[in-house]
Amino acid sequence: MTTPGESTGINEPKGVSRRGLLSGALVAGLGGAVVGAAGGGTAAWTMASSRAATADDVDGVDLDRSHPFYGTGRQGGISTEPQRHTVFMTFRLAEAASSTSVQTLLARWSAAAAVMQDGRPVGTVQPEDDVAPPVDTGEAFGLSPASLTVTIGLGPALFDGRFGLAAHKPAAFTDLPTLNGDVLDPNFTGGELSVQACADDPQVCYHAVRNLARLGRSTVSPFWAVLGFGRASAGTGQETPRNLLGFKDGTRNVETDEQYDEFVWIMNGDQPWMEGGTYQVVRKIRMLLETWDTDRVGNQQQIIGRHKEEGSPLSGRREKDTPDFALKSATGDPVIDPLSHVALAARENNDGVMIKRRGYNYTDGLDPNGELNAGLLFISYQNDPQHFIRLQNRLGGHDLLNEYIRHVGSAIFAVPPAPERGHYVAQGLFE
Ligand code: HEM
Repeated sequence: MTTPGESTGINEPKGVSRRGLLSGALVAGLGGAVVGAAGGGTAAWTMASSRAATADDVDGVDLDRSHPFYGTGRQGGISTEPQRHTVFMTFRLAEAASSTSVQTLLARWSAAAAVMQDGRPVGTVQPEDDVAPPVDTGEAFGLSPASLTVTIGLGPALFDGRFGLAAHKPAAFTDLPTLNGDVLDPNFTGGELSVQACADDPQVCYHAVRNLARLGRSTVSPFWAVLGFGRASAGTGQETPRNLLGFKDGTRNVETDEQYDEFVWIMNGDQPWMEGGTYQVVRKIRMLLETWDTDRVGNQQQIIGRHKEEGSPLSGRREKDTPDFALKSATGDPVIDPLSHVALAARENNDGVMIKRRGYNYTDGLDPNGELNAGLLFISYQNDPQHFIRLQNRLGGHDLLNEYIRHVGSAIFAVPPAPERGHYVAQGLFE
């Protein structure tokens, strides 16, 4: 079996770092080019960065920042402060894939992810022998690490018996059932492996996923992918961003260590290799933006249950005010509509259950009718897939928002804990 970092085929030149080689202005320019190529999307970023800064504003981007891959207990990209961009890709295994080739793939991906999170290329960009293809594709050469995190997930089909892993499947981990509100497109549904690359520079995300796909090409082929921009969740000290409906998204979310331990990280589960891991649910949710944009703001606020500008609950004035779902208006009606998105989703109305939402806006440009083909790449992390399933069935059945959204893509993955140096993601599964 391949020992990660030794015979992964990854040639790591010493002393070549992307860190600090490029000014923020140039990086912003490159970022704009990439997102623009996907159909637009720099607007949210530009808007956020042109906002007047205040003294206690720590919501900045430090392109020189890097996150370690090894030895962190949890994989990055889950509780990590959300970066500005993501490239999310799922993969299908080749028919000839074997248990050994899957292990080799995960070892190569782990070693490459560690190098790229450090801001380095996965091998030579310009080999001395000029008839050899470069090991690294080169588009991130000279760029800073930009807080890159690579999160690797395993799909339920990996445990179907082909690789002798069936006995190691956690009992809670199955394909998502058909859920209320599903209008899924098979081209954006499922996958046997997932890679979520998040960074503050879209070109760094793209490079990471492209190079992992390239390293794995004898074992996996890319299945479906989404480019996400303008994070739709906030970390500590980050201002709450806005989704494409124009509402703040991420105001109430899993935040404290206690909440992560209770709702996100698997602890005392039935499979030791998943201890400290979590489950990733991904939903590609198209928004019917042209229709939404003709709706009265009062109706938009009723649908979400929050004020548009401040993001405060309709029962309060400030964003962080706790929603009061019992508050009645002078006419005796609930101030927050019981069928509004937040009333149906809030922990107060779901037996206290929370999920960690860490999504991004996305755009696929225009559809064949010339309409905006865009929405929310919803990504949630939870230690029990049932928490998402129950919530989505409730929302999919009743949410006033359903008139304006369509769940077109869906997948679930098991995300093992981060490996120690010298090991690879999910190694415990094979031992
Ligand atoms: C395009 C689809 C969606 C949009 C536009 C959207 C938008 C929002 C907005 C604006 C908020 C209020 C701000 C906040 O507390 O973060 C919110 C809250 C929330 N959403 Fe969504 N959401 C979508 C899909 C979903 C889905 C699929 C789920 C889960 C199945 C979900 C679960 C939640 C939860 C748990 C909250 C926090 C509620 C609270 O505690 O007050 N959302 N969402």
